[in-house]
Amino acid sequence: MLAFEPKLGALLEELHTRSRSQDGLLADYYRKRAKRGVDLSVFDADTERFMSDKLVALDVDKAEFCYHVCRALGAKRIVEAGTSFGVSTLYLAAAVRDNGHAPGDGLVIGTEHEPDKALAARSHFERAGLAPYIDLREGDLRETLAHIDAPIDFMLMDIWTPMVLPAIERVAPCLRRGAVVIADNTTTFRDAYDEYFHFIANPANGLRTQTLPFDGGLEFTVKEG
Ligand SMILES: C[S@@+](CC[C@H](N)C(=O)[O-])C[C@H]1O[C@@H](n2cnc3c(N)ncnc32)[C@H](O)[C@@H]1O
Repeated sequence: MLAFEPKLGALLEELHTRSRSQDGLLADYYRKRAKRGVDLSVFDADTERFMSDKLVALDVDKAEFCYHVCRALGAKRIVEAGTSFGVSTLYLAAAVRDNGHAPGDGLVIGTEHEPDKALAARSHFERAGLAPYIDLREGDLRETLAHIDAPIDFMLMDIWTPMVLPAIERVAPCLRRGAVVIADNTTTFRDAYDEYFHFIANPANGLRTQTLPFDGGLEFTVKEG
């Protein structure tokens, strides 16, 4: 793992461990659904209920990659679709801080619609001393991301797939030239990401993309124009 300061490093270790401890439950859930013949690319109300208290944190290597991309970009303003308990948010806020931006001027806008998860995330931000760099917008991203000030340097898309299109539609107009959007699991859930790929393929949106070979696929999309 990246060598962060001890307080942040210990918290990340604790949260990644907690998230990984739920992997077996997730695997069981999907195994049972597959047995019932349910299309696993469909994210329905039952899955939403099952996931409502799970961390489902971004994998360590992907989160570290996001940190490094944000450092390379000198990222100041970031949007994250899908905060959960705040694991990826901590990496993004650390990048903004380490880029030397003042809190508030440098900002990660996160969004989470489960109140208990948002509460837990806020306490993690405080514990890490990164709260001043984070604007956690609680509620449905179709509302919470309706108003964003440009320019945005980086976006992390780590959200249930039915929300991917609403999220990119709201944030894309704010992306600056050279901004990067990272989206998780685009190979595993390629069908569910179909509308996202259509959005990227539309020349009017000025985006180009490549799927990176992380586990499940990690989409690396750049704003060109
Ligand atoms: C994969 S998890 C995010 C994990 C997080 N990025 C991390 O690394 O810890 C996706 C999160 O998006 C939240 N979510 C799903 N639909 C949402 C919506 N419409 N608005 C806001 N948050 C939503 C879920 O509750 C879930 O916590």
